[in-house]
Amino acid sequence: MSLEEKDYQFGGHTVKISLFKESFLGVSAYVWGPGLALCQYFEAEKFNFTGKKLLELGSGSGIVGILATLLGGDVTLTDKPHVLKQIEYNVSANIPLGSRHRIKISSLVWGTDQKNYPNDFDFILGSDIVYSPIQFPFLLQTLQDLCSSNTVIYLSSDMKYREGSVKFHEELVPEQFNSEVIHRNGSNCIYKVTKKPQSMSTAF
Ligand SMILES: C[S@@+](CC[C@H](N)C(=O)[O-])C[C@H]1O[C@@H](n2cnc3c(N)ncnc32)[C@H](O)[C@@H]1O
Repeated sequence: MSLEEKDYQFGGHTVKISLFKESFLGVSAYVWGPGLALCQYFEAEKFNFTGKKLLELGSGSGIVGILATLLGGDVTLTDKPHVLKQIEYNVSANIPLGSRHRIKISSLVWGTDQKNYPNDFDFILGSDIVYSPIQFPFLLQTLQDLCSSNTVIYLSSDMKYREGSVKFHEELVPEQFNSEVIHRNGSNCIYKVTKKPQSMSTAF
């Protein structure tokens, strides 16, 4: 198997990522700009996820979820089933045995599998998962189902080169969630998204 390996440095943490270039993983076999932007943001803002429960959607290489684990979190990395071997490989290369109990890898196909997960996450992470308009309803439903009133969602998206990303973040997400841009890095924007409080008319 041909692996493309590279080390990424975030503050005191080195993350070694191997990409399975011959396994027909398509977009999953890359480390994308929005993922790096989110990692750099966590590093710059000195995030400490100790004691927090996180879920990552569309992990791809696993770089974001792995860094979140190194920053102390209890993290579940998810993607389509055929991508999980690559994530497992990178988790093994980066997470010491003594911390493995804080990281899980499992399949979560948007719009289908989220019902099998709890909705008590402190944080939901998604980097470069907004690029396929046909998936937007499934992605929004997944966020709705996984998100409680205490969950903070961080979405990092490329607003220039990804089809539909402006419509998703500026129109579709605000219809259902509170959403604000908290960081910009070139064409990448990081959004902080939370559940809207239930209105009285729908609460009863
Ligand atoms: C462009 S890659 C981004 C990977 C990584 N988050 C990064 O920033 O480098 C998008 C990821 O979302 C996953 N994905 C796309 N559609 C999905 C779906 N319907 N359900 C679950 N994962 C999906 C892909 O398999 C892929 O790993």
